[in-house]
Amino acid sequence: MSMHGMHAVWEQRRSLRYMEQGQPTKETARRLLATLRPHRRLIAGALTLTVLGVVLGLIPPLLMRQIIDGAIRRRNYASLWWLAAGLLAFPAVGAVVSVGQSYLNAVVAQTVIHDLRTAMYRHGQRLGIRFFTKTPGGEIHSRLVNDLNAVQNVLSRTMTGLFVNALTVTLTLATMFVINWQLALAAALVLPAFALPVLSFGRRTYDAINRTQESMAQMTAHLEETLTLSGMVVVTSFGTRPREADRFTGYSASVRTCQVRQSMVGQWLSMVVRILSALGPALLYGYGGYLVITHRAELGTIVAFATYLVQLYSPASSLAGSNTTLIGGLALFDRIFRFLDLPADVPEPSAPQAMAAGTMPLALEFDCVQFGYQPSEEVLHGVSFTAEPGQLTAVVGPSGAGKSTILALAARFYDPEAGAVRLGGVSLAELAEADLRAAMSVVTQELYLFHTTLQDNIRYGRPTADDAEVRRAAEAAQLGDLIAALPEGLHTVVGERGYRLSGGEKQRVAIARAILRNPSVLLLDEATSSLDSHAERLIQEALDRLFRGRTVVAIAHRLSTVLAADQILVADGGRIRERGRHAQLLRQGGLYAALYHEQFDPGLAGGAEAMQAAVR
Ligand SMILES: Nc1ncnc2c1ncn2[C@@H]1O[C@H](COP(=O)(O)OP(=O)(O)OP(=O)(O)O)[C@@H](O)[C@H]1O
Ligand SMILES: [Mg+2]
Repeated sequence: MSMHGMHAVWEQRRSLRYMEQGQPTKETARRLLATLRPHRRLIAGALTLTVLGVVLGLIPPLLMRQIIDGAIRRRNYASLWWLAAGLLAFPAVGAVVSVGQSYLNAVVAQTVIHDLRTAMYRHGQRLGIRFFTKTPGGEIHSRLVNDLNAVQNVLSRTMTGLFVNALTVTLTLATMFVINWQLALAAALVLPAFALPVLSFGRRTYDAINRTQESMAQMTAHLEETLTLSGMVVVTSFGTRPREADRFTGYSASVRTCQVRQSMVGQWLSMVVRILSALGPALLYGYGGYLVITHRAELGTIVAFATYLVQLYSPASSLAGSNTTLIGGLALFDRIFRFLDLPADVPEPSAPQAMAAGTMPLALEFDCVQFGYQPSEEVLHGVSFTAEPGQLTAVVGPSGAGKSTILALAARFYDPEAGAVRLGGVSLAELAEADLRAAMSVVTQELYLFHTTLQDNIRYGRPTADDAEVRRAAEAAQLGDLIAALPEGLHTVVGERGYRLSGGEKQRVAIARAILRNPSVLLLDEATSSLDSHAERLIQEALDRLFRGRTVVAIAHRLSTVLAADQILVADGGRIRERGRHAQLLRQGGLYAALYHEQFDPGLAGGAEAMQAAVR
């Protein structure tokens, strides 16, 4: 794919809008320091060992100089042996120090990564449902894995490398000037050349890194969409394997291109720098040799200088390169901080209202609620109703009427644009998240089970429930026969998203969860799939248990729910058009009557009249 075409795709798919380009700012650096602050003691320890290591590295050249100019010239054997022993001892201690330093560095880097990773996870949880409907899961995944991996590299290499190198250059130069300022000056002449890359490449590195991480996110997103269970079912049934493989190849190729480009930024300039650094030894031996011949310097000094030069240029050139890595690192931190800056869609109130009394059923009230998923498109235009405590409210209406939207607002997946949703008289936005979730339970159409045992999936409704309670809930939800039939009963692993179970069984698992949870308000989106009369009766019995003594708002797809409802709301076009009980609405001969004849006509749905009788 051409670079241009790739950009177009990015523009389309990029829903993590904070990725808008921009240079990393001082603000990023400031926040990075704030992130490091809690670990300042560890960092101080690492830095102390670093200083020690650098100082230890400065000593051997001095010993060499002493051997050549002192011990050898005066034929002093004792001092020769001692100095030679020093040449072994100091590097040995240095090696030990460097192990400790590596350890502390790794601990600091990994601890910072761990902090960021957990902060990102928690922040991701707070972003709200809207964010996840707009963002492919793989992109979020990529942010937590790929971006943090890249940060890890930067942290463990650059950040500490920067300090070591700066310190080494400074101390080595200082020592050189003390020993012989003329020679030091000659060696230092070359140093400004190392500053060259520092002056350019910042922007290009920043862009290259962003592009790499962006293309990585694309690839991960595609991977998670297509090479997972639910994706594979679609891909296999439509025979699109080759097409998806081609698309993956495309994404992977752009990752390759971006990575190569990123690693090549600044390489040409560092080549120039390396050539320049050969100038140092040339100057040293030429000019230094001249000084020795003319008796203005000692031979030992030249040898010591040659050793120092080696020690000087390698940190100096990585120092020069560290601008690109540093900017790259800041770019990565920028991405992470921007993620952490995304505002929560449904924020927790700072001063939450107290919840009305304990386990009593509560009233759920919609007061002139207006809402749209996008600011431009209003989906609900002033919806008002009250689900009275302990009563069953059924919502019916044609497809696209806004039924699921009403339920989503009742569950505070979103906040209304105008009007309010109140629970026990308090607006949902003013309730503490924990109180709200404890009072309310949602059973959605699309069931999501975790890859674990049936027992743990049911227990998700109330993690503190013991085994006996889980079993009772399962039985109340009419799962007894299923459990008896499964090879390992409640301990059977149900597979990702519950593929191990039939549609009707999954619904009953969801009902068991809700029974265990024992909420005072239940929001239910009945599954649309029609079941045979046996399965239907099982669900019916499970729901009867679940509905008892709670405020229920149910999007009804089953006649029995509609007939049992204390109040039926007929939604259409984002408004409540009719409301009342079944018989009364049927008599009106309006929208409800039409819907009823279409969906539940006794002639078609067989036995509905008998059921009607049973409800009365
Ligand atoms: N996440 C979303 N983003 C944007 N628009 C949405 C979103 N979800 C639903 N809509 C739109 O809102 C309107 C109401 O949808 P809703 O899902 O509430 O209908 P429904 O009554 O539940 O229909 P059905 O009976 O088919 O489930 C529809 O026009 C739909 O396209
Ligand atoms: Mg719906």
